[in-house]
Amino acid sequence: MAHEVVLIPGDGIGPEITSAMRRVVDATGVAIEWDVRDAGAGVMEAYGTPLPQHVLDAVGRAKVAIKGPITTPIGTGFRSVNVALRKHFDLYACVRPCLSQPGDGSRYEGVDIVIVRENTEDLYAGIEFDEGAAEVAALSELVSASGQKAFRPDSAISVKPISIEGSRRIVEYAFEYARRCGRRKVTAVHKANIMKATDGLFLRVAREVAQRYPDIAFEDKIVDATCMGLVQNPADFDVLVLPNLYGDIVSDLGAGLVGGLGMAPGSNIGADIAVFEPTHGSAPDIAGKDIANPTAEILSAAMMLDHVGEQEAAERIRRAVRAVLAEGAAVTGDVRRAQTGSARGAVGTQAYADAVIASLRAEA
Ligand code: NAI
Repeated sequence: MAHEVVLIPGDGIGPEITSAMRRVVDATGVAIEWDVRDAGAGVMEAYGTPLPQHVLDAVGRAKVAIKGPITTPIGTGFRSVNVALRKHFDLYACVRPCLSQPGDGSRYEGVDIVIVRENTEDLYAGIEFDEGAAEVAALSELVSASGQKAFRPDSAISVKPISIEGSRRIVEYAFEYARRCGRRKVTAVHKANIMKATDGLFLRVAREVAQRYPDIAFEDKIVDATCMGLVQNPADFDVLVLPNLYGDIVSDLGAGLVGGLGMAPGSNIGADIAVFEPTHGSAPDIAGKDIANPTAEILSAAMMLDHVGEQEAAERIRRAVRAVLAEGAAVTGDVRRAQTGSARGAVGTQAYADAVIASLRAEA
């Protein structure tokens, strides 16, 4: 029976890289019934929202979706569709493997880390008050009454909730993942020296959970030191578990270790629904030019195939991607530039996908 998968192409480079991804997945021969649904600024006029109910219903029914990136207006406008999807389905675990590929153009070799980012709370919870809002004055009074130093009256405020339940389930997810995938260590990343209440709670819970997994090594590290450590000695790390904001930032750092954003896949996992998407955004600077690197989207599809029980096809895709990158004749401009300092000789998004498909077929 065909697997039903919702495909949200997104915007910017989304349509180009998802069409490349779809062709690669179809070339594996796995039967997928793609339910294509649009979301983002392009549907605002028709539906009055960037995330229409029919998209949510479709994902709720299929329980598996893969998406391209969706643009979020900066500073003003609608809230992130990507964050809204994660919150709506309580997709609490964002899993982003960063694995070196031969010929990825990176300064590093042999990087193999997995970032497990909490996806539902922290400063991304969306509880914010604009400068001048009545709530800011009320909060100011509350803070003064608690005996703490008041903040400036012309402040805007974002609230950072970190809960025991939210921390426990993400740290448990990281340890279960480590066990299932034969990993040796989990590092909990935090800033508990400064944010003693929120990050302190995250760290306390992480330490408690770690005691239940004596077979997996555990350490904790402050986020700034983690960034330096990752750049200096990425081999010191294995699985990292982080609250939402640090997870977002460190994910891009991780992508930078393995050839850039075009190479870094990801998944958002909940109790019974999973949405797969690359780490990167909609890259408006290169949209519509057939130059985006679809590897991250294609490798996200491989994670999706693992999830639906098609591990063999997933492995075939990963081998084909590795072979094309290692061979080096058909790579996109970002990779070529990282390798040689110039994009000269690079191929386009679809030509790269053709090369991956040819490699898949040659192996079959
Ligand atoms: P971005 O990730 O879109 O781009 C950053 C840089 O990386 C740009 O120079 C871009 O050209 C390059 N890049 C990204 N993906 C690439 C690919 N596949 N191949 C080659 N180069 C690639 O980040 P930016 O510019 O900060 O965000 C653009 C928009 O995307 C914003 O509206 C942001 O909110 C949104 N966004 C959406 C996400 C999602 O849908 N899950 C995640 C992150 C950002």
